[in-house]
Amino acid sequence: MRIPFVAGNWKMNTTVTEAERLVIEMLEKLDRVEGVEKVLCPPFVSLVAINMMLHGSSVKLGAQNMYFETKGAYTGEISPLMLRELCEFVILGHSERRWYFGDIDEIVNKKVKAALANKLNPILCVGERLEENEAGKTEEVINRQVTAALNGIEPAALSRSSDEVAKDLIIAYEPVWAIGTGKAASGEQAAATIQFIRDVVAKIWNETIAQDLRILYGGSVTSANIAEFISHPEIDGALVGGASLKAEEFVGIVEQTAEIKKRIK
Ligand code: 13P
Repeated sequence: MRIPFVAGNWKMNTTVTEAERLVIEMLEKLDRVEGVEKVLCPPFVSLVAINMMLHGSSVKLGAQNMYFETKGAYTGEISPLMLRELCEFVILGHSERRWYFGDIDEIVNKKVKAALANKLNPILCVGERLEENEAGKTEEVINRQVTAALNGIEPAALSRSSDEVAKDLIIAYEPVWAIGTGKAASGEQAAATIQFIRDVVAKIWNETIAQDLRILYGGSVTSANIAEFISHPEIDGALVGGASLKAEEFVGIVEQTAEIKKRIK
């Protein structure tokens, strides 16, 4: 059984004060939703404050990036050791990191390994660009990104034992052309690519792990279109950008996910 999962990626938005205000606006309602794992990913500087605010609630915390070394002379970087005191999840390989900040496949792989080694759950993002999509290269690109990101990782690195913080991998399919454009993929398109990702993971590891793995869709998800994605059994949830900065929108996305997944279970 894969537990539905919805995460809000706030990207480089909100000051600490604004972040706290946003949490106050949505926390009570989010906390009440059952059957969905709910995660907020604010900017680094707000993690300490929000970690305290989420204490005792069912809402979890994630970071948006990290460096792969645990400590040392890496001015300006944040390490997995620092994050694991504050949050359970970390977004890695987001297309904005890949295209603006040079996070190539090899770096994403090092980061995924470092997250798992430090008991952080990676939310690994993959997705093709518009020209790749139009050239019919979606599967080729996704295959390359997933295979590279998981290179050298033994299935044993993924454990969900109850006596330690879970080391759980999540993959988010985020077509670059759908991010922040208002032009979401169709439910069918997203479901087909997500099924393809599952097949790739089955080839790398095995069918059991592939069936257990949660795979999300991300790219212009709103409370108006979430149903289209979530009603596909292959799609386990969403990674939400812009709409996660509006309390009502994000709560709506999480509530609909809970309702629809309960119905199609
Ligand atoms: P939008 O929901 O703003 O399109 O962003 C998606 C995303 O990049 C989430 O990581």
